[in-house]
Amino acid sequence: MLSLTLPRIPALTTSLFCRCNVSSKFLQRHGSRMLSEKTRVSDALASKETGSHVRIQGWVRSVRPQKDNLFLHVTDGSSLQPLQVVASSHLNTRDLTFGCAVDITGTLEKSPNKKQNVELKAQRIEVVGECNPVDFPFKIKERHSLEYTRQFPHLRCRTNAFSSLLRIRSEATTAIQSFFRENGFVQIHTPVITSNDCEGAGELFQVEPAGDKKDSDDPNPHFFSVPAYLTVSGQLHLEVMAGAFSAVYTFGPTFRAENSQSRRHLAEFYMVEAEIAFTESLDDLMKVMENLFKATTEHVLSHCAEDVELFHKYMAPGHRDQVDLMLNRKFDVISYTEAIDILKSSSQNFTFSTEWGDDLHTEHEKFLVKHCGNVPVFVINYPYELKPFYARDNQDQPKHTAAAVDLLVPGVGELCGGSLREERIEVLSQRLAQAGLKDTYEWYLQLREFGSVPHGGFGMGFERYLLCILGLHNIKDVIPFARFSHSCLL
Ligand code: 4AD
Ligand code: MG
Repeated sequence: MLSLTLPRIPALTTSLFCRCNVSSKFLQRHGSRMLSEKTRVSDALASKETGSHVRIQGWVRSVRPQKDNLFLHVTDGSSLQPLQVVASSHLNTRDLTFGCAVDITGTLEKSPNKKQNVELKAQRIEVVGECNPVDFPFKIKERHSLEYTRQFPHLRCRTNAFSSLLRIRSEATTAIQSFFRENGFVQIHTPVITSNDCEGAGELFQVEPAGDKKDSDDPNPHFFSVPAYLTVSGQLHLEVMAGAFSAVYTFGPTFRAENSQSRRHLAEFYMVEAEIAFTESLDDLMKVMENLFKATTEHVLSHCAEDVELFHKYMAPGHRDQVDLMLNRKFDVISYTEAIDILKSSSQNFTFSTEWGDDLHTEHEKFLVKHCGNVPVFVINYPYELKPFYARDNQDQPKHTAAAVDLLVPGVGELCGGSLREERIEVLSQRLAQAGLKDTYEWYLQLREFGSVPHGGFGMGFERYLLCILGLHNIKDVIPFARFSHSCLL
């Protein structure tokens, strides 16, 4: 067997940020070079060594001039807590205001204030970018509502709440990737542009070149020669790949032309999707969904404790207990038929009907979660007619169901949707023929011809996941740039 020894890659000689536990001897020798390096605010705050000479760059969150001294709070997005900067008042200038961008060098000192370990004694403060505090939409010391900050998608990342949200979002993304990698899944980049409507719900954005770019001699009206759309789900492409890699996942933007202004729908959202071959039971899928939810949440709670606390303390008081309950209890499982029985026997007046065969609406989903003790609940075996062509037929009677599952969670309703896939070629072929889709999905049928295995998968809405763990109510508050009907700012 060929064995290769790879050469060690030398460490990069210059990094963007330096850690600040640098000895003073080192600084004496390399002082000028160190000055040109930058320290992140989070590293400075975590530093145990005082006396280090550091340079930080960031934005001013507060300015307190006193007789002899000037106190600043500076953040660079690396942590919720700002770094306190203390300077002689002669370093104060008129352009040093709330919101301005600064470049500061100085020495890290032990702070007399119990709220922070260290503070930066500044020797030099440069205002890199001014910020007129009168025109700036966010005001010092004011707590702005999420609704207010939503009007400024280009500036809201400068607020504490939204910068915390974006750090949590980034960490949750890492946790999801780690979960799948550690469990043997291969990541697949499924296409954004596709010629299929996986869900069959007709909520597609069509993709064609802007303007009249067509060659007048070309009789085909489409750029791709066929109608093409932004993907509503990567599932069908994952099914292709599950036929070679057994366990695959994708995590990317997903698009739905739902004409909805609801608090839980976006036109562009992120979906985590997994597909697993050699799976014959919904139990196997539910295990992955529950483990994904719990592992990701535990990671976020331990890696973003301060950021999460901001939401649990100020925006959703008491929600931490709810999250702990979800982590500590096993998720419930009920059948769709049981769910309908629960809804029908309740005294609540629902807006939408609850007859067997009706789809569950948010009001029903939220009721069911409460009924089950406010823990996530899997609803399994939905009416066959409610589910897309790919869902596996349970071939039961008289209530005809498909092996599909939704995960409902407190405060949000549906978080995940999944199913076993119809792997039996005759059954699938018949269903596609009935829907007039046999030609379109010839390739999908071929997957059942060549080495077909029982398989299944699910998709989890990433923004809904964030709403659920943070206790927030509006999906527009958990995505960097929200896209929904009649709104595409920036
Ligand atoms: O239930 P859905 O439609 O399932 C599918 O697309 C499957 N093909 C997934 C699969 O099996 N691979 O969508 C999955 C999840 C929903 O449960 C919901 O959390 C989220 O995606 N979702 C949305 N999130 C925000 N805005 C929207 N418009 C959403 N539509 C679905
Ligand atoms: Mg669904």
